[in-house]
Amino acid sequence: MNNTNVHYGYISICLHWLSALCVFGLFSLGYYMVELTYYHPYYKAAPELHKSIGLVFFAVMVFRVFWRTQQISLEHLFSHSKLEQKLGKIVHRVLYVLIFAIMFSGYLISTADDRGIEVFKLVTIPAIGAIIENQEDIAGLVHQWLAYLLISLSVLHALAALKHHIIDKDNTLNRIIGKRQKLQEYHAKTNKKTVH
Ligand code: HEM
Ligand code: HEM
Repeated sequence: MNNTNVHYGYISICLHWLSALCVFGLFSLGYYMVELTYYHPYYKAAPELHKSIGLVFFAVMVFRVFWRTQQISLEHLFSHSKLEQKLGKIVHRVLYVLIFAIMFSGYLISTADDRGIEVFKLVTIPAIGAIIENQEDIAGLVHQWLAYLLISLSVLHALAALKHHIIDKDNTLNRIIGKRQKLQEYHAKTNKKTVH
């Protein structure tokens, strides 16, 4: 369940992949739904689904951040260079910040007309109303561009993970997909890497 010095625990792993699924899913749905015309059958349903999933994802992210504070961080992998460790740390933090900023701007678009947001028709998140002029348009632009930035950074992040797996042949990708490596094997590999 918990992270160790070498492995991510199953909760961290599930939270990571659930977040990745939500980000790619919400991006695709958002991109698709803004092109729909008034007479399209999903004109209303698609944004409702986008907002509902977005708000459930918010709760998941709050739990993810809480869970992270309770767990050992695995960002200092010995086989990574100092630069890679620093870059990884920065990119991970920027990913977290971008996700929350996108959620907040999405909330500001949706509630600018004083109407709350229904989450799967079960609960309604209240609106605080417009706090600035043209809130819907400004928050819409911020939401759109931050979403593009998030997707670009996520793709770069995934490419970096593949680089570790294919070129460096280290344990970075294996431990986020839950593939366990024997401790002795791991130390033998990382020691070899640090000698180079
Ligand atoms: C939208 C998609 C994604 C987001 C937002 C995301 C976000 C993150 C974040 C925030 C972390 C840091 C975990 C922590 O310490 O709290 C992380 C770790 C990681 N992610 Fe992703 N990720 C995404 C997709 C992917 C994909 C597609 C891959 C693989 C192809 C991947 C591979 C990894 C790996 C290997 C780590 C561990 C890095 C390390 O331990 O240094 N991620 N991800
Ligand atoms: C990580 C989470 C999210 C991602 C990646 C995302 C992504 C997107 C994208 C790509 C668009 C289309 C932008 C465009 O091309 O104009 C969009 C539109 C929209 N999103 Fe999100 N979104 C997220 C979360 C949310 C949340 C939580 C809400 C509301 C509570 C929300 C509300 C909206 C609304 C109302 C639009 C339509 C904006 C318009 O008509 O211009 N989104 N989203």
